[in-house]
Amino acid sequence: MKIEYKKSLKEYNTFGINAIASEFIAITSESELKYILSEHNKKNLFILSGGSNMLLTKNIEALVIHIAIKGIEILEESESTVLISACAGENWNDFVQYCIQNNYGGLENLSLIPGYVGSAPIQNIGAYGVELKDTMMSCEAISISTQKKHIFKKEDCKFEYRNSIFKNEAKGEYIITKVTFKLTKKHHNLNTNYGAIESALLEKNIKNPSIKDISQTVIQIRQSKLPDPSEIGNSGSFFKNPIISKALFTKLQKTHPDIPSYSLNENNIKVPAGWLIEQSGFKGKRWGDAGVHEKQALVLVNHGSATGKEIFNLAKKIQKKIKQKFDITLETEVNII
Ligand code: EPU
Repeated sequence: MKIEYKKSLKEYNTFGINAIASEFIAITSESELKYILSEHNKKNLFILSGGSNMLLTKNIEALVIHIAIKGIEILEESESTVLISACAGENWNDFVQYCIQNNYGGLENLSLIPGYVGSAPIQNIGAYGVELKDTMMSCEAISISTQKKHIFKKEDCKFEYRNSIFKNEAKGEYIITKVTFKLTKKHHNLNTNYGAIESALLEKNIKNPSIKDISQTVIQIRQSKLPDPSEIGNSGSFFKNPIISKALFTKLQKTHPDIPSYSLNENNIKVPAGWLIEQSGFKGKRWGDAGVHEKQALVLVNHGSATGKEIFNLAKKIQKKIKQKFDITLETEVNII
């Protein structure tokens, strides 16, 4: 365990932004984490997990603690289910693939989401009709101020669409160290309703898909429209899909009859931000190295050496245009630092 000074975070954020940390330490166990927290409690701290949901717009004048705690453990097993935990520093997709190889079902729709296990609960990661909260049972976290371990049951996490207690009341107070899931060993609860999965399975003539088939299909779909962060810097969806009133939706339908939507309840409708951004002419455009992905307008990309500020300015430009054109406020999904 060694503190490094003036460390570039380029390799530690999927946007590939070359921000500098004044101090940096990678910790590989819970005891190291507790020790560092107790030693440096008065210091400015910045917790860094997989760096897959953040945009660094400035250098970090703080001790950056990179959570690299590894380990996967079976806690309990019955004939039909398994209780399995993964430590915060495990790569999310590696963990998902481990589960699939062992025929543990429940996470297959979340294949290939970038990032680490420890940050998955923070924004309740979701894709293709499934969210983390559907299988997560609990997570362990260390309090930064007391260094005590706290167990959050699913109900404590206040999960919502891309939201949880860790983005609100508990923000900045806890470091997630372990996440536990209840997965199926048989009679998997397959979720193939999402349009793109259904049609891809049909195309491959797969009638009774296995969890592996679903995982591979999700990977194919993601690879066909989402950029691979190891090739082109990005943080997945940059904005949340906005929820608008039925009245506004009806008004917009008059001028844009083809506006896609998902009805949430009597009064609220979710519309895809990617569609709004594409309609506003941003898809595939770039300003220097900051751009909008050519296949999915919801994803902002770093074509090489964009700064966080340049990407942030592009995001503001998009938000302004969407407000003018549709009277909709786009909120960022990515944390702006
Ligand atoms: N669309 C466009 N143009 C675009 C992109 C999308 O018109 O450039 C339209 C599509 O035609 C479709 C609709 O928008 O009608 C929805 O598109 P898609 O299925 O690609 O999903 P999304 O709503 O854009 C969300 C998640 C993704 C997740 C997919 C699949 C959010 C903010 N994003 O995207 O999550 O993979 O659904 O479930 O909810 C992430 O969070 O980083 C992420 C990639």
